[in-house]
Parts: sequence; structure tokens; C-alpha cells
Amino acid sequence: MTKVFSGIRPSGKLHLGNYLGAIKNWIELQDKTDQAIFAVVDYHGITTPFDPKKYRGQVMDVVLDYLAAGVDPDKALLIRQSKVSQHTELAWIFNTITPVSWLDRLPTHKEQLAKSPKYNHMGLLDYPVLMAADILIYKSNLVPVGEDQMPHIDLANEIAKKFNSMFGQTFEPVKAKLTEGARIMSLQDPGKKMSKTPHQADPLTASKGDGLGAGQAGDDSCIFLVDTPNEIRLKIKKAVTDSGKEVYYNEEEKPAISNLITIFHMLSGKEIKNIEAEYEGKSYADFKNDLAEVVVGFLKPFQEKYNELKKNPDYVMSILIKSEEKAKALAGSTLKEVKEKMGLE
Ligand code: TYM
Repeated sequence: MTKVFSGIRPSGKLHLGNYLGAIKNWIELQDKTDQAIFAVVDYHGITTPFDPKKYRGQVMDVVLDYLAAGVDPDKALLIRQSKVSQHTELAWIFNTITPVSWLDRLPTHKEQLAKSPKYNHMGLLDYPVLMAADILIYKSNLVPVGEDQMPHIDLANEIAKKFNSMFGQTFEPVKAKLTEGARIMSLQDPGKKMSKTPHQADPLTASKGDGLGAGQAGDDSCIFLVDTPNEIRLKIKKAVTDSGKEVYYNEEEKPAISNLITIFHMLSGKEIKNIEAEYEGKSYADFKNDLAEVVVGFLKPFQEKYNELKKNPDYVMSILIKSEEKAKALAGSTLKEVKEKMGLE
């Protein structure tokens, strides 16, 4: 039986990387699986700088993003992580069997620490343990994520194995489901992934303009799903390119153009070799103009649905409440089994 779980942090508006790296796969999987649960991981979101005054709104924006992108409440549960308390209860239990050395060596931990050095706290270190609990509390075995999350999936498997060996067979192995081109890079620096997480700022000392606004229009490295057509055109126009002027795919020679070709390919469905043929003899500017229209056209139906949903907060809330009730029942049954095996019940 295939059971799918995935989540995204509400640390800014969702961007094309989140869509192409994760959500695109969710939509395909929800039709084919026995259980699909998609979460706004709001407890993960508070491990990096955030603004308490804006946070509730950010969570609801991501819920709208999920629904507008095609998460179907008849096929999948759509939940806020903090509303299903069994996630954090299981994370605590996992904390007691996870060596610290499994966590402080993770590249994701080092990266986040470099971005926000003041945020060197337990939550950041422990982040992947909560993620393992998110997945295993539903006995999920398939997790659609971008490539950057692979170390976390490996860790979830290590924790599951250790639990099984200490307390008896409970959890099955978890597999990641990566989308092709699962790493979409920044439009300003093709050496870095497209990312919404604000840098440096501390929510308690932050003031406007110091980074908490990242994830909003004005950030040229990211195309957000809710960007206006003109914002999209401008961002693509400003996107860095490589030396030379030919449009072809080669990640070493042409990292920036290859990233743009990946986006073109994934949103239009055109094969990469056909895109290369179409732009032979043409300029980067020709290619970028057309790419902008592909992105604008792709996001139009998404944005129409998003605006429609925004006018219906009661409907959106009713989906969340129903999903969270069902999720609590599923999670409660795993937690009971875990506690019984550990002599806690
Ligand atoms: P987060 O919020 O950083 O990213 C959410 C999803 O988007 C993917 N992604 C990308 N894919 C391709 N290119 C990019 N530039 C890009 N940026 C982000 C990520 O791979 C991810 O799939 N730890 C997770 C959230 C989480 C989770 C979970 C995921 C918490 N619990 C349980 C799966 C299962 C995270 O930080 O995602």
C-alpha cells in the first residue's frame, strides 16, 4: 500500500522550485495512492527567522497555494502540522534514539546556520527528526520532495530502522520521489538553489527591509507562483546568463541557461532537444522573451484559482478542519502502537 506524505515550510510565498521540485509530483501521486497527506509544516517554519505578526497569514497563503496548484481535498488530506500534535510527540520519542552526530553533520543544517548564524538553536539541529516524525506518524512510505531533502529522507530511514531494532518492527522503509530536474536554481546565481528562506534576520530584532521580506516581489532570484505577469517578465529579463550566446543545455558550460531551459521544458512539456533546435541561431533575449510567456501562461490558471479561493476563507478553513480531524485519528493510532511498544502505555 502506497502512503504519500510531503510538506513545505510557510517561510515565504511558494516559488517555481517548490512547484517543480515537489508539488507537481504531489498532484500526480494523489490520484494513484491509497493515502496522501500534504502539510504546511509550520513548526519547521519557526526554526528560521519569521515574523509572528505575519506568520498566520503566511500559513494560510501556503494552504491557498496547495489548493490552487491542484491538491484535491477529496483525494488528499491538507493539514497544518502544528494542529496534529502527534507529530511533535513522536519527534520527542525519536529524539531519545537519535545520536546528535547524525544531525550536526547534515549539509542542510550547516547551510541554514551559515544563512542565519544567530539561529543556532536546538530546533534547527533537530529539524530532521521532526521531519522523520511527520512522515512516520502516518506510516508513509513515499515522499515527493526536491533533491535537497534527500539527506533528511535517509535520516528518517535510519531512525525508523533504529526504532524497529530497539522496540520491534513498526516502520517500513521510506522512499523519496524526485521530480526530473528536481533542483531549480536561483535566477541570479545558478550555483544556488531557488530559495525563499530569509537570510540573517532575527524576528525579535528585525525591522522592515532586513530580510524578513524575502519571499516577496522584489526578490529577483525567485519566481513566486503569485508574481504578476510583469514581475515575471522583468525577473526573467534580469536573470543572469552564461558567456557565449547559444541556447543549449549543458550544466557545466551553461549553468544559467540550462536552468532556464529546465524551467521551459517542465512548464511547456517541450523536449529539451526541441527547445535547443527552436533557438538555434537565436539570441538569449529571444529565448528569455518566450520563456517569460511560457511562465506567465502556465501560472495564469493557478492565479485565477488562487484569487477565487482567497475570497472563500470559510471554505478553505473547513477543508483544513476536516483533514486535520482525519489526520489526528491516523496519527493517534501510530502513536498508540509506538507507546505500547515502549512501555509508555
Ligand atoms: P522546503 O520548505 O524547504 O521546500 C519544500 C519543497 O520544495 C522543494 N524545493 C525545491 N525543489 C527544487 N528546486 C528548488 N530550488 C527547491 N526549493 C525547495 C524541497 O525539496 C521540498 O520538497 N524539510 C522540508 C519540509 C518538510 C517535509 C516534511 C517534506 C518537513 N517535513 C516531511 C517532506 C516530508 C523543507 O524544508 O522543505
